[in-house]
Amino acid sequence: MAEPDPVPVAPAAASSTEFSFRGGQLCCEAVALAALAQRFGTPLYVYSGAAMDRRLQTVRTAFGPGAHVCYAVKANSNLGVLRRMHAGGAGFDLVSGGELERLCAAGLPTAGAVFAGVAKEPWEIAAAVAADILFFNVESPHELPLLAAAGAAAGRRVRVALRLNPDVDAGTHAYISTGKKENKFGVALDRAGELVAAIRREPWLQLVGYHVHLGSQLQSVDPYVVAFERVATFVAASPLHAEGVTYYDLGGGFGIGYGKGPALDVAAVAAALLPRLAARGWRPVVEPGRFLVGDAGVLLTRVLGNKRQGETRFVLVDAAMNDLVRPALYQAEHPVTRVVPGAGSPQTVDVVGPVCETSDFLARRCLLPPCERGDLLAILAAGAYGASMASNYNTRRRPAEVLVDGDQVRLLRRRETFAAMFADEMPAADGGDGADGGEVVDA
Ligand code: LLP
Repeated sequence: MAEPDPVPVAPAAASSTEFSFRGGQLCCEAVALAALAQRFGTPLYVYSGAAMDRRLQTVRTAFGPGAHVCYAVKANSNLGVLRRMHAGGAGFDLVSGGELERLCAAGLPTAGAVFAGVAKEPWEIAAAVAADILFFNVESPHELPLLAAAGAAAGRRVRVALRLNPDVDAGTHAYISTGKKENKFGVALDRAGELVAAIRREPWLQLVGYHVHLGSQLQSVDPYVVAFERVATFVAASPLHAEGVTYYDLGGGFGIGYGKGPALDVAAVAAALLPRLAARGWRPVVEPGRFLVGDAGVLLTRVLGNKRQGETRFVLVDAAMNDLVRPALYQAEHPVTRVVPGAGSPQTVDVVGPVCETSDFLARRCLLPPCERGDLLAILAAGAYGASMASNYNTRRRPAEVLVDGDQVRLLRRRETFAAMFADEMPAADGGDGADGGEVVDA
């Protein structure tokens, strides 16, 4: 009998065609999520390789062959995900020396990487200079002498782009807005001229571009255009601002739907910016994170029980805010679905974890068919800022992560062990104080 066509996840929640109902259960590509939960346990992050590839190609096609697409490593920094992004032609957007270490650990080239951050440490700067990354995104004056000294020590000029703060309200959650004047990021346009002059005074520094990143989860094209126009006005103010500039890094921030609508139309962002860039001979750099991996991942969790308190029905699950902190931190709403659709009329429930905080919820006021202990739920659109923000709070092991490719499954990260979690807290074998724990060190 021919297999019935896959049915997408509830239309409103459809985040990615790679997650669909086949044979009455939710699958990632050709693999049943229930089988993965059985094999690897829960909570479990499951990623679709095809979904990542598709989104990367969407961005690359939109911005064209002249653009440099840097995947924002922070969104999902698993080494396997980084390899996948590299295979699809991406460079990398870094914000720490640790993220650079990840590229090295994954055996990936660093030449196409850019490095932003308001407070880079000297060792991070030295490592990125040694790695000869494409450019640094400079955002604080104190970085300039550090960068110049690292360049002098390495005997090479350091390429820098100046991160500007154009004071644009991108309309995102306050915690993920970065382009307003009260945010710590970038350099205000009225101070940028001084920074450009300071860069030009340093023989070991070379100004190659400007950078703007307005925030995350942007839903419209306008902020990108307004920011560009403000930067263009600044650059036009003096030939010194324009000399040698070849890159315009418009940042990331491309929003996704989270079950409420379509993702940002990146082709429209490109259509608005490319002619403006071409007119100045500037090459576009983009730094998407969420757009590339958010819809490509789900967090699988098993129902531990049900509880009713006052008017609220709680579905208690084995994933928690330590596994996915976005709902607690940003009031983010992720669609939730049962992996095997249940019978019975849907009820309004709060899906909560075992962590001892009232903010430990994965979804509030969501509609689900009655759930019983043992049922599996999928928290959708959890591929970005899920695993990469996971913690050990309440001494919970961080979840395993798997990547699906058609009918193949790769374990990208084992579930953390308690031994690994405690390893750095153990008394050193040679100097430990067994009674009190901890390592005795000279003050
Ligand atoms: N470039 C820079 C300089 C950034 O700071 C960020 C994100 C990105 C690119 C990528 O932004 P995306 O394309 O992923 O929106 N944890 C929050 C998001 C924090 C974003 C921080 N910066 C969340 O879960 O919503």
